Amino acid sequence: MKLRAMAKKYRRKNKKTKKLQKRKSTTKTLQKSVALIGFRGVGKTTLAQKLAELRRVPVISLDKKIEEYLNQTISDFVKSHGWPAFREVEKKILKELAQNPEICILDTGGGIVEEGEGEASKEKIDILKNSFFCIYLTMPDDLLLERLSSAKKTDSRPNLPGNIREILEKRKPLYLQTAHAVVDVSQATVEEAAERINRILK
Ligand code: S3P
Repeated sequence: MKLRAMAKKYRRKNKKTKKLQKRKSTTKTLQKSVALIGFRGVGKTTLAQKLAELRRVPVISLDKKIEEYLNQTISDFVKSHGWPAFREVEKKILKELAQNPEICILDTGGGIVEEGEGEASKEKIDILKNSFFCIYLTMPDDLLLERLSSAKKTDSRPNLPGNIREILEKRKPLYLQTAHAVVDVSQATVEEAAERINRILK
């Protein structure tokens, strides 16, 4: 390679590195853990991972914590104990995580705002609102339901009790009540959505 071309390449690379270093050094430390909330299938898990990478904090999956605690899958537990029992375990683990002083990105389950047979859970909503900065991820219903039905074949999640559209309608005001910010992720790639949330958090 000619000397001038090499120098140009080096300058470009150096500029890029400096830009990246500047971005990293201006990323403020999160003051509060962040919880991603929203219906199943909206992309909470993937986005939580991306966001955690971006903010360099750990990501915690509430569902995984529950499965570790139960030592079985959520699906199996729901089959043998029912939804209200699952919602109680979910509340217990959420309470524990809310007391953890380590800042993290929390990936919640879609029914985190519920208890019993699908009633609003004031207690869980309060815990989320007080201990986390909650971001409600949304997308148009049809797109969300379409994503859910195409994911069905490989999906290990238990079927929700009742009509999925009705459950979604019922949960929307609860998510809104819990959220500190709402982000529509339907038009964005994971990277774009994570950047958008990152800007909200600054
Ligand atoms: C649930 C969603 C699941 C999981 C459980 C209950 C729900 O999490 O917590 O199966 O009630 O919508 P995802 O939202 O990650 O699928």
